[in-house]
Amino acid sequence: MTDNVMIRVEHLLKDYGTGRPAVNDISFDVRAGEVLGFLGPNGAGKTTTMKILTSFLAPTAGRAEVAGYDVYSQSLEARRRIGYLPEDTPLYHDMTVLEYLHFVADVRGLPKSSRNARMKRVVEQVGIPDRLGMLIGELSKGYRQRVGLAQAILHEPEVLILDEPTSGLDPNQIAEIRQVIKEIGREKTVIFSTHILGEVQATCSRVIIISDGKLVADGTPDELTGRKTGTNTVLVEVAVASNKHDPLELIRRVDGVLAAELVPVGSATARMYRVTAEGGQDPRGDIARVIATVDGLDLLQLTPERASLEAVFRRLTTTSTASSDQAPLAAAGGM
Ligand SMILES: Nc1ncnc2c1ncn2[C@@H]1O[C@H](COP(=O)(O)OP(=O)(O)OP(=O)(O)O)[C@@H](O)[C@H]1O
Ligand SMILES: [Mg+2]
Repeated sequence: MTDNVMIRVEHLLKDYGTGRPAVNDISFDVRAGEVLGFLGPNGAGKTTTMKILTSFLAPTAGRAEVAGYDVYSQSLEARRRIGYLPEDTPLYHDMTVLEYLHFVADVRGLPKSSRNARMKRVVEQVGIPDRLGMLIGELSKGYRQRVGLAQAILHEPEVLILDEPTSGLDPNQIAEIRQVIKEIGREKTVIFSTHILGEVQATCSRVIIISDGKLVADGTPDELTGRKTGTNTVLVEVAVASNKHDPLELIRRVDGVLAAELVPVGSATARMYRVTAEGGQDPRGDIARVIATVDGLDLLQLTPERASLEAVFRRLTTTSTASSDQAPLAAAGGM
């Protein structure tokens, strides 16, 4: 193991026997302290990958390691270091929350001496202190999800694998659970799937997108949203004191600029332009120089326009037939 790699996935493949692999030759590493957002449309293979990582499913080909242990041949050792929140939390419906957490603590071998303190902390973290006496079967979906999260973090695992941890939660609780994930992620390694893209930007240090069983993107949220579809877009705002010069004409003549258009901002003295340049060309220096040389024009703003994560996600996952021959977006950080 190099470099604190806590999760290693190598050429993982899972075919449920349908002839169309649910996970198709996926490889990635997750380092200690990373919070990895695992994205992909319905049926992309997220849950399947997580079930393999947690030893609930055997891979058809390829392998995976958690904390240096092979999840298939050393599953006991691997699982000891993992907290897992499954997609459909299989809780014991006729136990009370407290009974269930004691049961989990027994299974996980939590020492009796520190157990109560640990339970108290976790119960507060996930916001269930007033539900401990209720039967799990009588809890609302959101509260069941919280109990699921509590059992996942109870033994302070090094690696947390959470399959849609905020699904079914109310906005307040989503914010709190995000905070919990962030806190845990400071020391531990977290991989979680979600369909809420804002959550990824708020919580993750890294994002992986899979589509149709294949890895189509791997990078930080900034890297993914900064990447363009072969062009480079900047917003230019100019203060215009006189109508002697049209900034649009000047900008259009800058080397590498493909197009420029006025963006209405409703100001009498300032104008905003969206400028598209050839991929790999940053026109900002030349635009700044051109504006600076003209009397009556002042540059107010020159900002790269970033694609939203949603736009990136949609572009990479909606063309599933095209995506198979599309090279994955660059892997971050030279792993
Ligand atoms: N037990 C199974 N038998 C056969 N096919 C399965 C089985 N479980 C999942 N699949 C198929 O594998 C593919 C990936 O499913 P998976 O549940 O991993 O997707 P997902 O990314 O978690 O989707 P979602 O966002 O809906 O949770 C889907 O095509 C699904 O139909
Ligand atoms: Mg799933």
